[in-house]
Amino acid sequence: MAQEYDAIWVCNEDCPDLTDGRTVMEEKRILCIGLVCLDIISVVDKYPEEDSDTRCLSQRWQRGGNASNSCTVLSLLGAPCAFMGSLAPGHIADFVLNSLSSYGIDVRHVINHPGSTFPASIVISNITNGSRTILHMNRNLPDVTVEDFQKVDLSQYKWIHWEGRNADEQVKMIQRVEDHNNKCPPDQRIKISVEIEKEREELFLLFQRGDLVFVSKDVAKYLGFHSATEAVLGLYPRVQQGAYLVCAWADQGATALGPDGQVIHSPAFPPDAIVDTLGAGDTFNASVMFALSKGQSMQEALTFGCRIAGKKCGIQGYDGIVS
Ligand code: ADP
Ligand code: FRU
Repeated sequence: MAQEYDAIWVCNEDCPDLTDGRTVMEEKRILCIGLVCLDIISVVDKYPEEDSDTRCLSQRWQRGGNASNSCTVLSLLGAPCAFMGSLAPGHIADFVLNSLSSYGIDVRHVINHPGSTFPASIVISNITNGSRTILHMNRNLPDVTVEDFQKVDLSQYKWIHWEGRNADEQVKMIQRVEDHNNKCPPDQRIKISVEIEKEREELFLLFQRGDLVFVSKDVAKYLGFHSATEAVLGLYPRVQQGAYLVCAWADQGATALGPDGQVIHSPAFPPDAIVDTLGAGDTFNASVMFALSKGQSMQEALTFGCRIAGKKCGIQGYDGIVS
């Protein structure tokens, strides 16, 4: 009986056994590996002129970083999830850890780097058209290494997602999961996804990895494509056999291509007013992972991803994407 549940349920060591001897079973988690940073967001109704002095409508601190944002969304959707990334201890780390735990995101794999500076983004968020202008700085915070990842108990996870960063190291982490998967029956394998968001050539070796590859429109444009359909068709030869390639394209929705060669598309679902697109892509990725992890088809997952990401564009931050 227990074996039947192994693929999605795990006996969690942190939960005390029930007093009658039964063991507490928890749903396996989705682990997102990548950046957490501080977003200092100034909300304006008009993008400022250079060298002007503008009064903002509001200002807030928000936990940011692609993997961390995707965890927020997974948690709001009701998926048990964990974040793995680096922190520089101090006031910002306290704020970030507080925020992660307020969403019930597991932080056991967060790595502390005393002496490093916390990465931060200054974000100008224009509520008139939803644009987000990001000024990001990461001075010296090291990324997660394969040694850090060695400590992860893979049996706790049903899905591991990598935000493309230190791709050389990330490929070695993915190899560990592939080796693990090769020893497992098919229904117990960990799904692997990667995100290639930044136009940095060294990230492109991640195309060859994982069951699911998210490529951003920025990377697609950099590589010479003019639409999501062009991008998935043109880039599909780079992915490994059997994988899906997904490309989101703002108000054009999102498109995917899988091993059967069929191009799948969902339109965007724009809200009445687009007020904040910060993290729309992270929201889309998390929602697609969530839907697929529940056994939905790629068509259903794309549509769900666009619906939730559309909802996000209509609100400030993430709270309210499922209401
Ligand atoms: P990123 O935030 O990484 O630049 P995109 O801009 O491609 O990502 O957006 C991801 C998803 O968010 C899109 O597929 C779409 O569903 C939704 N989205 C983004 N911008 C809009 C918009 N202006 N109108 C409707 N939906 C949007
Ligand atoms: C949104 C985001 C922000 C962060 C920036 C880093 O996708 O993760 O939260 O400031 O991108 O590039």
